[in-house]
Amino acid sequence: MNSIKVGLLGIGTVGEGTFNVLKRNQQEIRRRAGRGIEITMVAARNTDRAASLVGAGIEVVGDPFAVVDHPDIDIVVELIGGYELPFKLVMRAIANGKHVVTANKALLALHGNEIFAAAQEKGVMVAFEAAVAGGIPIIKALREGLTANRIESVAGIINGTTNFILSEMRDKGLDFSTALAQAQGLGYAEADPTFDIEGVDAAHKLTIMSAIAFGIPVQFDKAHVEGISQLQAVDIRYAEDLGYRIKLLGITRRTVIDGVEGIELRVHPTLIPAKRLIANVEGAMNAVLVQADAVGATLYYGKGAGAEPTASSVIADLVDITRLATADPEYRVPHLAFQPNQMTDVAI
Ligand code: HSE
Repeated sequence: MNSIKVGLLGIGTVGEGTFNVLKRNQQEIRRRAGRGIEITMVAARNTDRAASLVGAGIEVVGDPFAVVDHPDIDIVVELIGGYELPFKLVMRAIANGKHVVTANKALLALHGNEIFAAAQEKGVMVAFEAAVAGGIPIIKALREGLTANRIESVAGIINGTTNFILSEMRDKGLDFSTALAQAQGLGYAEADPTFDIEGVDAAHKLTIMSAIAFGIPVQFDKAHVEGISQLQAVDIRYAEDLGYRIKLLGITRRTVIDGVEGIELRVHPTLIPAKRLIANVEGAMNAVLVQADAVGATLYYGKGAGAEPTASSVIADLVDITRLATADPEYRVPHLAFQPNQMTDVAI
């Protein structure tokens, strides 16, 4: 069977990682996907740099719409970041009947409902494992691994930048801005680090997990969001003295208030007893704790950012789509996303 053809939008850190891992593990990936996965087109702002990265045989263009409109492309991988242009590109790719893989949490947190509805109508798949917790396969765990369960809560350290800052402040006594500068230097932070330190990035990811865990629409505007910019070294020291660690947690869980069932969505610095596993997640690592009725508590830990960890999730989605591409459209959309027309109506 011919390879499935992939068009990459953006070849920054994650794009380059995706390209490299696909190439390096080509044989295994082909075996698992049942078919070759081939990047045939790349859109980049700096076409010269992109051309030298990908080498001969791959078409490099400056206009990302040339990729989403290209008749030979089966899957569009959106790695541009931001919301406006990616939204237009993803909607156009869907309208053109292409499957989409995205690592763009902000895009899904703000426009996920429209995107998933359009994908369902068109019978294409939108996959987004890389959008939450980098290399940790948490979307797959929530959607498939725990599919037998009623999920009660999801709580996690889902922003590496802030976890790195808090670890450095505690371990090395660094002040907030020095630790932030180091996180930026290591490439963990968003283009606008305000999203990291004010909890917005974590809230984007939490919103997506909440939608998957509870089968509800994506409702970023309902989240309570509080970051770590007001924390001082002294807060961290006092917490330590009392036997706690401060972590920026994203928490979503079922609630019942005055007999009305709802879902809570919140991101804020949290005191966690130092002996708990999640309190010992240090540096830029991520961890997500899921409480579910049949399995009990499960904890997922790993790298939440970086070129190859994120590429690992992007490629997992490419493999899933490649395997499912021949399945009945009615079946394949719900498998990769939640079903917009079967969401629970709950208060948030
Ligand atoms: N800025 C994000 C973080 C990158 O620090 O976790 C990965 O989403």
